[in-house]
Amino acid sequence: MRADGYAKVNLALAVYPRSADGYHPLRGIFQSVSLADEVAVQPDTDDSVTVRGGDAPQDETNLAWRAVEVARRTARVTQPMSLEIHKRIPAGAGLGGGSADAAATLGLLADRFGLDAETTAELGESLGADVPFSLVGGTKLVEGRGERLIDFEPLGDFALGIVVPPFSLSTPAVFDEWDRLDGPRGDVMSDEDLPPSLRGGLPIRNDLFRAAVSLDARVGEWRDEIAERWNTGVAMTGSGSALFAFFSTLDEALGAVSSIDVPTRATEAVEPVAVGWERVDG
Ligand code: C5P
Repeated sequence: MRADGYAKVNLALAVYPRSADGYHPLRGIFQSVSLADEVAVQPDTDDSVTVRGGDAPQDETNLAWRAVEVARRTARVTQPMSLEIHKRIPAGAGLGGGSADAAATLGLLADRFGLDAETTAELGESLGADVPFSLVGGTKLVEGRGERLIDFEPLGDFALGIVVPPFSLSTPAVFDEWDRLDGPRGDVMSDEDLPPSLRGGLPIRNDLFRAAVSLDARVGEWRDEIAERWNTGVAMTGSGSALFAFFSTLDEALGAVSSIDVPTRATEAVEPVAVGWERVDG
């Protein structure tokens, strides 16, 4: 069983003060994009996790492996399984790579074990705040700590140029810094830098941006330098450090990312996709 798990970009992310459960309520527009990790999971003689092409844990702490464990436990299956993950989504970038792997793995096993959609969604929620979104994907208005998914008009009138700077940020540390700074709001992207579908709607801003800059000033420097080079607004996704801007076409986004001539962890030109994961035949 194989599946692609797609990266996500937080086109907008509003953050509210931490609740009693330790999480911050969110309200944001999440978008799946055409950059995917591939996962393969199958019955085997022993349990194993193999990660190729990127840095993710190769043991039982891997989020996708934890998906295997919760799916098996819930379905009362004891069959040993091997999990192979081919990484293309940079880790620690705010692109939801670990959640994409976990959602794709959980989706495959839920089908195989006959778990219903509600149970699968609950298991996803137990794995991480971004997993419920990655199980569904496309364009969603996301609320709560990430578990409340509200249909949003599917977006398709843009491409994104993404730059992943050569450093990463810890999600819990960025949320802690946001608290310490007393909950700053992010800069709102101006309408002229947005695709027509996002103009005049929810403010397109990421409230975690100032907290990320406060932890690592390089985030702000990279944002400003890319914005100047591309001559458009540049935003951060999730808790960073990946930065993105909107372009009208994939060709324009490709041209923009190829103009980045400083060392990065990755540059990507992507388009919106309508699902969070999908089975790969063969
Ligand atoms: O659930 P996940 O493992 O993705 O979250 C990592 C950490 O990020 C949480 O332990 C919490 O500190 C922080 N977080 C938060 N509010 C959210 C999502 C994550 O405070 N909505």
